[in-house]
Amino acid sequence: MEKFERLLVTAALPYANGYIHLGHIAGAYLPADIYVRFKRLCKEDVIFISGSDEHGTAIEISAMKEKVTPKEIIDKFHYANKEAFAGLGISFDIYSRTSNPIHHKTSQDFFLNLYDKDLLVQKSEKQLYSEKDKRFLADRFVEGTCPICGYEEARGDQCENCGSNLSPLELINPKSKISGDTPVVKESVNFFFPLEKFQPQLVEWIKTKKNWKSNVKNYCEGWFKTGLKDRAITRDLDWGVKIPVKGFEGKVIYVWFEAPIGYISATKELFIKKGTPEMWEKYWCDDKTKLVHFIGKDNIIFHAIVFPAMLMAHGGYILADNVPANEFLNLDGGKLSKSKGHGILVKDVVKEYNPDVIRYTIAANMPENKDSDFTWEDLQNKNNNELAAILGNFINRTVVFAKTKFDNKIPNSKVGAKPEVFDYIVNQKKVIEDCLDNYRFRDGLNEIMNIARAANKYFNDSEPWKVIKSDVDTCGEIIYNCLEICHTLAIAIFPVLPFTSERILRILNTDNSKIEWDNIGKYCLEQGKELGEDVILFPQIELQAAKEEEVKEEDNLITIDDFKKVQLRTAVVIQAEKVEKSKKLLKLRVKCGNKEKQIIAGIAEFYTPEEILNKNIVIVDNLKPAKLMGLESQGMLLAAKADGKLKIITADGEFSDGADVS
Ligand code: 2FM
Ligand code: ZN
Repeated sequence: MEKFERLLVTAALPYANGYIHLGHIAGAYLPADIYVRFKRLCKEDVIFISGSDEHGTAIEISAMKEKVTPKEIIDKFHYANKEAFAGLGISFDIYSRTSNPIHHKTSQDFFLNLYDKDLLVQKSEKQLYSEKDKRFLADRFVEGTCPICGYEEARGDQCENCGSNLSPLELINPKSKISGDTPVVKESVNFFFPLEKFQPQLVEWIKTKKNWKSNVKNYCEGWFKTGLKDRAITRDLDWGVKIPVKGFEGKVIYVWFEAPIGYISATKELFIKKGTPEMWEKYWCDDKTKLVHFIGKDNIIFHAIVFPAMLMAHGGYILADNVPANEFLNLDGGKLSKSKGHGILVKDVVKEYNPDVIRYTIAANMPENKDSDFTWEDLQNKNNNELAAILGNFINRTVVFAKTKFDNKIPNSKVGAKPEVFDYIVNQKKVIEDCLDNYRFRDGLNEIMNIARAANKYFNDSEPWKVIKSDVDTCGEIIYNCLEICHTLAIAIFPVLPFTSERILRILNTDNSKIEWDNIGKYCLEQGKELGEDVILFPQIELQAAKEEEVKEEDNLITIDDFKKVQLRTAVVIQAEKVEKSKKLLKLRVKCGNKEKQIIAGIAEFYTPEEILNKNIVIVDNLKPAKLMGLESQGMLLAAKADGKLKIITADGEFSDGADVS
């Protein structure tokens, strides 16, 4: 393996305050598992690390809401998620948890290392403090009246009514969510990590990463362009890893600082369990180890920038070789969501479907370069028309033939010539390796299935049902070859379809001693041996008529509250240019009150950049950012369109930019 001797693979530590759903699986866990299973088959030294992320305000809040302790919440979800992962065949070497003492100690030592080197900066900031609760109130622990729209139950970080981002200090009449107490303003000192200082080093490091996915590289470059800022790494909270410095009692290390250190703690725990505690260092501190972080795109900043900077600051650790982040998997057109919780939770889905069918459907749609969709129709289609029709069919027709015509035994090969299909298979082996080595799992799966397609073609072209009538030995040879291809398929599909691989071995009545990547295309079976029991690998799936209720027409009407959620503001266009290679898009920089935004607008066919410059326009200010032709659009401008013409809504007159439009 290249210049590396061992492989350390991590998959993001999911928060233990919710159940794992298929979106998580597509983002990080399935690609990681496919990769790791492939590497294990290649006999590489690999460990696969994950676990529960058990700190952070979200968990403390859930506990408060449900009137239980955080420990009860994390225990419930930790075990449920661990089991769900196992049900789907995600084969971690360890699924640890950040509440373990070893993690607290490892994080505190890490923190102290930076503290002792005087790398951490202390800053005092105003915060809300409740005398009654005897604590500072983090964003989400405060409620009050929104200064923008007057909504009385606005949260400390955001107003759910008008969508404005807020800070707790801006709330009118703030109240503690714990006790209802009116907090006071008090100064609080927190530690900051000097991320800004590490920018040059990070830029140089990422420059060397020629094989990183472009989504990840572009994202990082975006951050570099804006300039990295120092980040607060401690919080005025109760629940978390305590700050190991005198005078900072009652505060904890910020969850995003300690969670990635969880990868290190989990590795330590793994080797303690194996009885070789010092081995963790080989995996984290020896540059012959290749470190790969599998994550969803929302975690890129932490894994490609912040954590590497932390490791650089600490020294002695290796840095990631790759961070193959995936985009998002949309679940049934957005109809299935985590909060609604039905149908897409791994714990439920594995009860209803063959886990390999789920793995296959997700792998075939893996959101590697752009968001993709998961639908139940697709799952049915993949099961019936690909898994059953191609893979299952080949195994089944081969085994049934052997059963009926060769006494359920592996025929002896009396002719002894290897057919050409094996040359194809041996070549495919390299093609698949190239895909999986480069994190192209969708392509890899397709190439794996191409072996099954070629196998069916070999069966068809050889016409054993005809040959048997005149030449039993040649027919036996064909079926023997087909059975060997079944074994080869059991190897090739193993990374994606581990359960099916095992079932094929049972059908072939053989063990897994020959299941290694190098045996693809080789003869591995014992001639004359009895076969196992024939089973249908992929029974047809019939979907219940309507999994989802249709959205009714009247659901199109919105309430005044819905409308209030849309934040319209005036803005002035301060820069405008064409978007390269696009006929329709203009890239605008607009000023809206005291902030500036980039808006990618589909108006190039109607306005030149010069015509739109300096115009006072109306924008939707609180639109979630979206990417158009790789450029982030942080809002939308209003325009009227009729009869093929388009006119921008302007707000000329006595307005300054940043004014509310209602
Ligand atoms: O986004 C999340 O679910 C985080 N809990 C991921 C943490 S990954 C790592 F840093 F621990
Ligand atoms: Zn508001």
